[in-house]
Amino acid sequence: MGSNGISSQHQDVIEQVLDLNGSPETILQATVDLLHDNMTNWNWVGIYFLSGDHLVLGPYKGAETEHTKIQVGQGVCGSAVKENTNIIVDDVRERANYIACTPETRSEIVVLIRYQDQIVGQFDVDSDNVGNFSKEDEEFLVELADLVGPYCRVLAGKAV
Ligand code: SME
Repeated sequence: MGSNGISSQHQDVIEQVLDLNGSPETILQATVDLLHDNMTNWNWVGIYFLSGDHLVLGPYKGAETEHTKIQVGQGVCGSAVKENTNIIVDDVRERANYIACTPETRSEIVVLIRYQDQIVGQFDVDSDNVGNFSKEDEEFLVELADLVGPYCRVLAGKAV
């Protein structure tokens, strides 16, 4: 673990993301795939784009979800935008205002993605394990959010 809380597992993924090439769509899909496949018990990984007053599902890996559009203020995802904050939910069963993706999901992390200080989207990650996400995972996703912010900005402009 480095002084900033980023582990070697985190660092490996960051290096793989830095090596990605292609269109914004390709890079963002590959980023969620890498997170899903490399991080422990990250069972559903997605990026939502902010479009006006709602979030639109972009690339994801995991079970198909019917929540492809979420109003700002609704659920954990919409609350993060409304409150302008990242959110870690240790046990989704104890969280009011939670929108279930799959019945197996037990914990969740949402980290906002910004471009030039404006929210353009968010990482949303679900785990089937209670308490799966740490402050270090949040720091790691904040670092990734800085890397993918420009790509999200391009695609958020097209999301409807
Ligand atoms: N759990 C989220 C909804 C998105 S799905 O989990 C993919 C929420 O409460 O906003």
